[in-house]
Amino acid sequence: MQQLLNAGNSGTPLHIMEKSSYSLWLTKQAQSVQAWLQQIDFTGEGLALVPSFSADQEGKLAQAIFVVEDASHYFACGDLITKLPTGQYLLEAAPEHQQAICFAWLVGAYKFSAYKSNQQQKSLASLAVNKQALVDNAIKYAEATALVRDLVNTPASDMMPVNLGDTAQYLAETFGGAVQQIIGDELLVNNYPTIHAVGRASINQPRLIDLTWGNSEHPRVTLVGKGVCFDSGGLDLKPAAGMRNMKKDMGGSAHVLGLAQLIMSYQLPINLRVLIPAVENAVSNNAMRPGDVITTRKGLTVEIDNTDAEGRLVLGDALCEASQDKPELIIDFATLTGAMRVALGTELPGFFSTSDEVAAGITAAGSKISDPVWRMPLYSPYNDLFKSAIADMTNCSAGPFGGAITAALYLEKFVSEGIDWVHFDVMAFNVRALAGRPLGGEAFGIRAVFDYLQVRYNP
Ligand code: BES
Ligand code: ZN
Ligand code: ZN
Repeated sequence: MQQLLNAGNSGTPLHIMEKSSYSLWLTKQAQSVQAWLQQIDFTGEGLALVPSFSADQEGKLAQAIFVVEDASHYFACGDLITKLPTGQYLLEAAPEHQQAICFAWLVGAYKFSAYKSNQQQKSLASLAVNKQALVDNAIKYAEATALVRDLVNTPASDMMPVNLGDTAQYLAETFGGAVQQIIGDELLVNNYPTIHAVGRASINQPRLIDLTWGNSEHPRVTLVGKGVCFDSGGLDLKPAAGMRNMKKDMGGSAHVLGLAQLIMSYQLPINLRVLIPAVENAVSNNAMRPGDVITTRKGLTVEIDNTDAEGRLVLGDALCEASQDKPELIIDFATLTGAMRVALGTELPGFFSTSDEVAAGITAAGSKISDPVWRMPLYSPYNDLFKSAIADMTNCSAGPFGGAITAALYLEKFVSEGIDWVHFDVMAFNVRALAGRPLGGEAFGIRAVFDYLQVRYNP
């Protein structure tokens, strides 16, 4: 990423401005520039390339201008790096827009090409900006985003629990943390019965990944991510269309790894723990069945109503463990329900929180950096919807309504009282391409959460 964005003061000027400032800017340009822009029918929107009009530079690009509606939006310039001819540019933009532009520049360069036989990538333009801090921040945010995207985009055959474990290990080695893993039948020995029950039918052994980092004197924050490496639905098998993209069902774990990378790269003064229950929800002769009852780590018994509601099962044991050392905040990310996508669509992640203050802080942080999030209610009367005739509860409501809320209420039972808890139900995937956001794996909400944590712990 260093080749694409650097601190410096040379390059073809790239003027980025908002529509509202374009007319004034135009009046200050040389007559030849004004005439050129008129000649190419530039309407004051998008990209325009302006050649040099001096005899010795004839035919050369003199400047590029990019006019956007809202230059403070973090993806406003997401397509710029791929639209511009290669070469070195020098950013000229209002100081308050520069951080967003640098981020967009880098995320816009993202491409998942690991499985293309012709790996030759078009060389991209590079951008010089006047402050090293702008470069450093943009690289950290863009790298975290790229990590999430890569993990989600990688096919399930290469992104099984072992691979999530390796990724956590790599991060720990890079930033000076530690990873412990409980694998296969050891999950039973260590009392993680629900993680084991969901993952035992797969040849890829289930595991609980436990990454720790930071100073034990600092406040403890624990992240939990759903790591279902492929969700076939189990015996209550998903239909083909619903199964097609289920390599992304480890998206929650990708999100917490990306968020952890951000936290560690900024050395946020927290005592971080990341828990990832990693499984494949597969079908085999030993798969858990509808009607089976599992005694969870917490001791609550759960009757399996539908084996496709597996995310909450693995997260339950992980949230119970997360509560044990009493962190002051637990945040989980999960591709938990289709119902949340029905409620909010694929591009707006919904979240739940037991703390109004934390929820408001995350929402405010998200709107500041164009990472919008939407709070949903933990509406407790719906707890009645997963009553079981033979166990303490079922794993899902029998009815078709309020599925994102009932899933969140299920998880809430596994978080100890008195601990602030946030639960994100995310899509982890772009189903349409937007500026700087190609089809496929995507990070939702991690920049919002990170900025909230920064305000809270590193003001
Ligand atoms: N991984 C899915 C949820 C999902 C589906 C997220 C599509 C994003 C896009 C989850 O494990 C699941 O299958 N949930 C079921 C729950 C139901 C059986 C109660 C769902 O949402 O349909
Ligand atoms: Zn499922
Ligand atoms: Zn799932």
